[in-house]
Amino acid sequence: MYESQTDMGTPVPLKIGTPVSLIVDGREVTVLKGASVMRAAAEAGIKVPKLCATDSLEAFGSCRVCLVEIEGRKGYPASCTTEVEEGMVVSTQSERLDSLRRNVVELYVSDHPLECVSCSANGDCELQDVAESLGVENSRYGLDGANHQAVGKDESNPYFTFDPSQCIVCYRCIRACDDIQGTFALTIDGRGFASKVTAGQADSFMDSDCVSCGACVDNCPTEALMEKSVIEHGLPERSVTTTCAYCGVGCSFNAELKGDTVLRMTPDKAGLANEGHACIKGRFAFGYVTHKDRITSPMIRDNINDPWREVSWDEAFRYTADRLRAIQDKYGRDSIGGITSSRCTNEETYLVQKMVRAAFGNNNVDTCARVCHSPTGYGLKTTLGESAGTQAFNSVDQADLVLVMGANPSDAHPVFASRLKRRLREGAKLIVADPRKIDLVNSPHVRAEHHLALRPGSNVAFINAMAHVVVTEGLEDSAFIAARCEEEPYQKWREFIMGEQNSPELTERITGIPASELRSAARLFASVPNAAIYYGLGVSEHSQGSTTVMGIANLAMVTGNLGREGVGVNPLRGQNNVQGSCDMGSFPHELPGYRHISDPVVRNLFEKEWNIRLQDEPGLRIPNMFDASISGNFKGLYVQGEDLAQSDPNTHHVEKALQSLECLVVQDIFLNETARFAHVLLPGSSFLEKNGTYTNAERRISMVRKAIEPLAGLEDWEVTMALSNAMGYPMEYSHPSEIMDEIARLTPTFTGVSYEKLDRLGSIQWPCNDEAPEGTPTMHIDEFVRGKGYFAITGFVPTDERSTRKYPLLMTTGRILSQYNVGAQTRRTANSEFYDEDVLEIHPFDAEERGIGEGDWCGIASRAGETVLRAVLTDRVQPGVVYTTFHFPSSGANVITTDNSDWATNCPEYKVTAVQVSHVSEPSEWQKEYRAFATRQEELLDKARV
Ligand code: SF4
Ligand code: SF4
Ligand code: SF4
Ligand code: FES
Repeated sequence: MYESQTDMGTPVPLKIGTPVSLIVDGREVTVLKGASVMRAAAEAGIKVPKLCATDSLEAFGSCRVCLVEIEGRKGYPASCTTEVEEGMVVSTQSERLDSLRRNVVELYVSDHPLECVSCSANGDCELQDVAESLGVENSRYGLDGANHQAVGKDESNPYFTFDPSQCIVCYRCIRACDDIQGTFALTIDGRGFASKVTAGQADSFMDSDCVSCGACVDNCPTEALMEKSVIEHGLPERSVTTTCAYCGVGCSFNAELKGDTVLRMTPDKAGLANEGHACIKGRFAFGYVTHKDRITSPMIRDNINDPWREVSWDEAFRYTADRLRAIQDKYGRDSIGGITSSRCTNEETYLVQKMVRAAFGNNNVDTCARVCHSPTGYGLKTTLGESAGTQAFNSVDQADLVLVMGANPSDAHPVFASRLKRRLREGAKLIVADPRKIDLVNSPHVRAEHHLALRPGSNVAFINAMAHVVVTEGLEDSAFIAARCEEEPYQKWREFIMGEQNSPELTERITGIPASELRSAARLFASVPNAAIYYGLGVSEHSQGSTTVMGIANLAMVTGNLGREGVGVNPLRGQNNVQGSCDMGSFPHELPGYRHISDPVVRNLFEKEWNIRLQDEPGLRIPNMFDASISGNFKGLYVQGEDLAQSDPNTHHVEKALQSLECLVVQDIFLNETARFAHVLLPGSSFLEKNGTYTNAERRISMVRKAIEPLAGLEDWEVTMALSNAMGYPMEYSHPSEIMDEIARLTPTFTGVSYEKLDRLGSIQWPCNDEAPEGTPTMHIDEFVRGKGYFAITGFVPTDERSTRKYPLLMTTGRILSQYNVGAQTRRTANSEFYDEDVLEIHPFDAEERGIGEGDWCGIASRAGETVLRAVLTDRVQPGVVYTTFHFPSSGANVITTDNSDWATNCPEYKVTAVQVSHVSEPSEWQKEYRAFATRQEELLDKARV
């Protein structure tokens, strides 16, 4: 039988204590002070029976199965709640202990008959294990007394069931929900024998506050909480450790399989990004991998109105190469390009940019990070010298205050949110700067000191005002600035920031934040020993995204909050491999490692390794590619794992650009929105079907390991390699580890990275090189990567996208927990039972003014286009602001967003669109056209498949 993860009974002590030696069953063992006797026994290889204890939760001491004898002590203490002491002598086995334990277990069994053979948990049940170890087969108390056997199951959650008849009321689920997840959805209803676990006020799981993270299921020792997939198919037989393919937290998972079927994903306790926790997406939403919509054969067509034709891989490669080369012959070398994906592995991304530079012969390569965190790269490189977050996630455990700006971790980065909430429950303070009342503002046992509900588009004014208060009130960390930052830029910045225009009183008109509240938030930020900043796309996706990132770095530097644990500037990356795709040279102006293409020394390095001549000028960015396509200068595009037609702003413009291409090659696991405009469709492989690495938001490189064979026969890196070969540029790798070796040879921050080391260490945070052979959890410790920190001047420039009489509301966008980005994966899972359409959140005042009621259709018009969504009336948004998500293509959220973009990086201004909202009764014209086009394209696909 396959063994799931080892359980040491109780956690590693929170505070690292001195070593303590003791004797357990005659074996000497040394553990840290604060450890339990149960953990010490486990360290010595001795298993003490247990039911209510587990190493992911603090000991609770309720079941009394783990009793031991300790020399010199009376009675039989519970080993899970008893701390070790120097020289202690412990016995875990004796007839008396067995008899006491048997008695307890028989009581459990009287309400939980050992009908193990017919139970789904047979072989994976701790009660069964304990009973077996004690030789308990029946209960002397009989089975006829009062029991819970008749209580019905709660099957409401699509992924797991709750069967109260199998519950032994050990509280592990409740403690997991409270302490690990921080949702507090479960409680015990009733007292004594009538005690029963319930979700909320005796609701079903689905109707409760439960967010389906699965922590209760992971921690349940019996079949009471169990995955439906296991109930249906039986227990897994093997597991493969890999990394979640959803968000930038990068959780480590064990993909558990029976045969070639993945039955469940269990969070890996050894994974340093998540330490055994998960969210609904990574834990449960993997069914898309085998969804019937998967594209499993290459397909081609001459025209987008033609049916698709299934062809062999070889024919697809030949056809694609011929068409792209013909375009180059006709329109020139620079008339084609490629787009890498932040959803693909580092190795795949590296190969795509290499293919563009070496086989296409130009620098027309860009990545979807363009539309999310490119300002982070620019802003942090300019101020600190490295385009990456400064900390490891566990750094937040040392923070005294956290500023969350333009991010919604509970929905977009849930496992980090749980860690953050735990720190907040321990007493750290929270400031939220966001136009919307995100969950963190007020959730169970967490309340922000300040919710600064700034107006969309006013981030720079806000961050400047924070720094203004720090400097004008003498709260700066002068010693840090003198030692760590460039003097002259600092003095210039200081003069700038002290200017009256940056005062909270004057910026109040821009931000909407009362001056007194902002002052008090700034004072709080500057007064604590460790203040950390976490930010998201609400910072970067603005016309001044790069300026805000620099403003954030300025605030961290002026208060001395960089270069140690508990502080730092931390971009929460949207997709799993945003950091990696940027690291790998996906931008048209940079080679891997963020080195500019115009640098002859760097170019020379790559030219030698790749045996080519590189262009010395940057190529086209995504928006430039669109413009050039419409104007007729750009004709061929290879897109790997990115859905431009749904995710990029101003859909009308994007669609026109895609339609203007003579050859669009899409490599994806589904016929996504972009693929509907394609001439070549190359099947992609999901994360479960390939080997490689992802790099998460904390620069942590983690292994992605193949659990099942690729459905279409090839992994994505093999497809790119074959296409490059067909284009006439030879590539030869037999395994992604060889691609990583090449990356390491060419990239100074990756010099020490190898698959062997990743296997050995589990994961590595770059830089990893001779100076830091095992990686770098905290950056900029003694000095910044650029030497001295640079204070950039961050003048506020209002966006052109302002509310007007015609468009009086500001629309901003975000994510919901159960769906992910364009939704291509999560929409094809039961996650849609939680959220099956994008809606428009509107404040009741604005709704009333427009005669819009809850659930009404409302038309949303901007200068770019119109769409129609259902209204949700809520005060989560402030008057004057509306909010939506963009997980469903037919919603057309990006039909409305404009092509305004960040001045430095062209990152679109998704977060501010001036709109008018009105009551309507039918879909918009675009939505009607979209449905007709999508249906037609589905039919053309179906024709190829019959
Ligand atoms: S799934 Fe997560 S949120 Fe839901 S009850 Fe269990 S621990 Fe709580
Ligand atoms: S549902 Fe499972 S974890 Fe929760 S109290 Fe019952 S047996 Fe324990
Ligand atoms: S938090 Fe992110 S990485 Fe972790 S399981 Fe959820 S989606 Fe996956
Ligand atoms: S395992 Fe120690 S009391 Fe339950």
